[in-house]
Amino acid sequence: MRSVLVTGGAGFIGSNFVHHLVAHTDVDITVLDALTYAGDLRSLAGLPGNRLTFVRGDISDAELVDGLVAGADAVVHFAAESHNDNSLAEPRPFLHTNIVGTYTLLESARRHDRRFHHISTDEVYGDLELDDPGRFTETTPYNPSSPYSATKAASDLLVRAWMRSFGLRATISNCSNNYGPRQHIEKFIPRQITNVLRGSRPKLYGQGRNVRDWVHVEDHSSAVLAILERGRIGETYLVGADGERSNVEVLATILRLMDQPSDAYDLVTDRAGHDLRYAIDWTKLREELGWAPAHRDFEAGLAATIEWYRSNEDWWTGSKDATEDFYRSVGK
Ligand code: NAD
Ligand code: TYD
Repeated sequence: MRSVLVTGGAGFIGSNFVHHLVAHTDVDITVLDALTYAGDLRSLAGLPGNRLTFVRGDISDAELVDGLVAGADAVVHFAAESHNDNSLAEPRPFLHTNIVGTYTLLESARRHDRRFHHISTDEVYGDLELDDPGRFTETTPYNPSSPYSATKAASDLLVRAWMRSFGLRATISNCSNNYGPRQHIEKFIPRQITNVLRGSRPKLYGQGRNVRDWVHVEDHSSAVLAILERGRIGETYLVGADGERSNVEVLATILRLMDQPSDAYDLVTDRAGHDLRYAIDWTKLREELGWAPAHRDFEAGLAATIEWYRSNEDWWTGSKDATEDFYRSVGK
């Protein structure tokens, strides 16, 4: 594998993956990204120009996609509309990018017989009860709740169909909630950090009892690279790091690390259809590929993430007003 096409490489996880590829491989990288509100070229700043080519475009542009897929040995597909709250307010872009965009990439990968890795989410499995001792595995039935997770589920099923019907050489990974540098400030952790940095109060949906299974974005990147290099074609791998925490616990840690009173937050209207709990069993990834997360200390990872937002105010300050205007308009 000498060249990789990374879709969505100017977004949160995609850009961290590009940094990871530059540091840990010799491959040449082409990033295809539409630079929607969630994409930011500054997330790729400082990377070597002789290894990285950036192309601005839409993954549903069949002609553009076909040329780029033909020129790469493998495609790693991160591009998506990724935020549940946006999908509840306006689902259409989620159908366009997550379904039609993925279909467009699959057709080119099939035509040129390219290795394909599809990035997905554990949200395709729906949710677990708070007191359920179980966790998601690769055989958990699909049961998505939101327009976001339904379109991600649709994209996974398209990949599976292209493998079975057309022999596409593909793998899929379903990862739990990521945190770390360069995450858009609409998401839970950076929204609260940047609220505190701006002197406004964090916002917790409902009573904050919902549980997410946090994994550091660098661990997601190392898992994707392991699957790309050594994963079995046709397989799905779950990625997690035993990081289950309720939202109120995560917020309490943020407040403590940022020297705020423990009650300095507001409870706001709950999200419609809010998934209760996600939890990942990543045994298959450990046993088959020998992968393990490196960031096992959530509090240390969170402290470093807070420091990143503190030191990179320029990166996020321009989008803070629009993000909070949106949240205000939906009562959050
Ligand atoms: P993000 O919203 O930060 O980034 C998405 C990127 O895709 C942006 O750079 C955007 O410009 C680009 N994009 C959007 N529509 C496009 C289009 N039509 N054509 C080309 N580019 C387009 O998302 P993220 O959080 O980095 O998520 C990346 C992937 O990982 C997604 O597939 C998501 O479903 C999956 N995932 C995310 C998480 C998480 O915790 N954020 C967890 C598991 C899986
Ligand atoms: P989010 O980062 O949107 O990820 P996802 O919906 O994919 O899990 O939200 C994580 C959790 O935090 C989710 O349970 C919703 C909750 N949440 C809040 O309590 N307050 C907020 O301001 C946001 C954005 C999310």
